[in-house]
Amino acid sequence: MVKVLITRKIPQAGIEILEQQPKLELDYRQGPPLSTEDLKKALKDVDAVIPVIPDKITKEVIAAGPKLKVIATYSVGYDHIDINAATTKKIYVANTPGDLTESVAEHAFALMLSLGRSIVSADKYTRSGKYKYWDPLIFLGPQFNGKTLGIVGFGRIGRHLAKIARNGLNMTILYSDVNRHETEEKETNAKHVSLEELLQNSDVISLNCNYCAETKHLINERTLHLMKPTAYLINTSRGGVIDEKSLAQALKDGVIEGAALDVFEEEPKIHPDLLKMENVILTPHIASATREARIQMARMAAENVVEVLINNRPPINLVNKELSKDTISSLI
Ligand code: DGY
Repeated sequence: MVKVLITRKIPQAGIEILEQQPKLELDYRQGPPLSTEDLKKALKDVDAVIPVIPDKITKEVIAAGPKLKVIATYSVGYDHIDINAATTKKIYVANTPGDLTESVAEHAFALMLSLGRSIVSADKYTRSGKYKYWDPLIFLGPQFNGKTLGIVGFGRIGRHLAKIARNGLNMTILYSDVNRHETEEKETNAKHVSLEELLQNSDVISLNCNYCAETKHLINERTLHLMKPTAYLINTSRGGVIDEKSLAQALKDGVIEGAALDVFEEEPKIHPDLLKMENVILTPHIASATREARIQMARMAAENVVEVLINNRPPINLVNKELSKDTISSLI
């Protein structure tokens, strides 16, 4: 038998794909997140693992799985996995790209509107009985139509957000990215600019970049001060792109108007000052939480496992591309 560990409950669509393979035995954990020690124990005799983002797949954790052939993460992002450690041990790492593009872009858009139009605060106000009479001057926010949206990272999600904002609200799109996307920018009339230019000229800034050494604390005290005092900052990428302490200070000092965050530097911990602020919206890393995206993530993760353990091929969505089929001997 070939064993697959699934560390958390995921949509049944993925489990069914694995269950169709008689050679696979599933260790399907459906409880709370595994501690590092429990994760290491569980990896002892498995051939594949489907982890989720909070499972930190460090070098030490990888070393606890001597039979591991594939780490098929239930996510697009793979910054929770030590890719070098996996590659050294010739373990494939696979992810689920493209499955959550629309969902994450929609969440970023929803956060922008909710923040600008004080939806969360206005809801609390209404429920708490404060709505006694109509007031012409409460909860005033910007009209977003025709305003400028700056997108940091013009990958699939950033480009989809650009389409929603351009087609829905006629927003001007600026983007910063290490690469210029000439063909794609035509769809939304987007302009490729430097990060500085983007921050200085955008009414809303949405972070849609990967998290890596280059993007760590891209938004910090200096870059926050480049933004307009009326700017809104939206983050659906990874918490570490923002220096949370500097953001909390900037919001306190009125350096920018507000922020909506779905991801945090030390998830699930959140800077205590952010928790108290009315001009901040916080969601628990749910940008991809649509039924459609989550089902597709489960299917893709399962298919990546089947491709390696049953079809004896590299996973469909191989991350550590330097591992070719030749480097891995027969798996089962
Ligand atoms: C991902 O897949 O990387 C998202 O952040 C979580 O769904």
